[in-house]
Amino acid sequence: MQKIWVEGGKPLVGEINIHGAKNALLPILAATIMINGETIIHNAPNLSDTAASLDILRKLGANIKQERSTIIINTSSAYSAILTEDLTGTMRSSIIYLGAMLARFAKANLAYPGGCKLGPRPIDIHLNALEKMGAKFDNSDDNIAANGTLTGTKISLPVASVGATENIILAATLAKGVTTIINAAKEPEIIDLANFLNSAGAKISGAGTPTIIIEGVPQLGSTEYKIMPDRIAATTYLAAAAITRGDVTINKISSNILTASLETFTQMGCDLDIKYDNIRLKSSARLKPLADIETAVYPGFATDVQPLFLACTTLANGTSKFTETIFENRYSINNELLKFGAKVQTDEQVATIYGKRRLKPANVTAQDLRGAAALTITALAAKGESIISNAHFIDRGYENFEQNLKQLGAQIARFNA
Ligand code: EPU
Repeated sequence: MQKIWVEGGKPLVGEINIHGAKNALLPILAATIMINGETIIHNAPNLSDTAASLDILRKLGANIKQERSTIIINTSSAYSAILTEDLTGTMRSSIIYLGAMLARFAKANLAYPGGCKLGPRPIDIHLNALEKMGAKFDNSDDNIAANGTLTGTKISLPVASVGATENIILAATLAKGVTTIINAAKEPEIIDLANFLNSAGAKISGAGTPTIIIEGVPQLGSTEYKIMPDRIAATTYLAAAAITRGDVTINKISSNILTASLETFTQMGCDLDIKYDNIRLKSSARLKPLADIETAVYPGFATDVQPLFLACTTLANGTSKFTETIFENRYSINNELLKFGAKVQTDEQVATIYGKRRLKPANVTAQDLRGAAALTITALAAKGESIISNAHFIDRGYENFEQNLKQLGAQIARFNA
């Protein structure tokens, strides 16, 4: 098992570059299957989820070259293949291949998606929407099997699901006629997907608003595209600065996609210096508590950053309260935080954190990606040696995680045990 060793208790100081966004790259990789030609993607983070997605593309007959953060994908001779559980089981976003394959091949056959265990993660909204567009399903307990030529229609989402919005955009791009998505997800990664598809000849408008209109086109052509920066990775490194009372600048990201996170750091008493494409966070005093944080869809407080801020409040000067509204099981770190001496009470979707002056080092186990990052930054704030088990989760969403933290002065290393 991979573990992270941390000798904590030192403020992080320095600057790092923020890599491209995992949650923008993954649907864009799926979208390449719909392109008749070559796609060049820049700023693609090197993650285990990236590798998993490229394995799926290879299985579908794509020709792939990878050079640092550039991926060149040729899908001219792609074909429909069965995506078995070994390909789809490691990440939730494999479900996006359903829309992409239906669009390109009028059929799709894939095992159910995996991903972080954040509670039940149903796909009913995806399936209902595609069915409304004309897909016929013959699913088994393990497999989704769909076929049919898709036609544009009006789809009203019961929940502004990020993945379902992406699946519909993909399916609708090559469908006959116009698709309108009502109550669409507004996350910046949706805008990135629409911009990417439009660069290849799609006709998508309204991405980033609750109503997205997709005018189907007969085919997409070669394109070159740069992935947006990762707002969750950015918040992670700023949180590492906040919790260690450090002074960190993150480069290659603009503040406009980080509004909720930055407002929360300000609420905690951190000083922010915001420039065009960099942000500096200084935290010199004890953090202030967060009275009432509720996770929400974009532009609200993101569920993905909740464990990071929750970790920060374990050292705050007072009591904080979080309410998780998106996923049922986003509190996987709460019991682990107790091992650091933190005082955390969890009552279903509400967590109350009584801030302490100091944390002690601990041996803890991560259960998901953002939880692993949150436990690591907690360890960085606790004076002494801590170990975080299940470090492989980090590689799903952070490129060069330990190297970046080392660059900021952290004493951190990965080992196998
Ligand atoms: N939902 C349904 N039915 C569906 C789809 C979603 O009930 O068919 C529910 C979910 O159970 C959840 C809510 O709708 O309660 C929102 O889920 P959503 O579909 O928006 O999430 P997702 O597409 O599965 C993406 C990100 C997550 C991020 C969420 C919320 C990717 C690959 N994943 O997941 O990112 O937490 O949106 O913003 O884009 C991560 O990066 O660590 C991560 C988990």
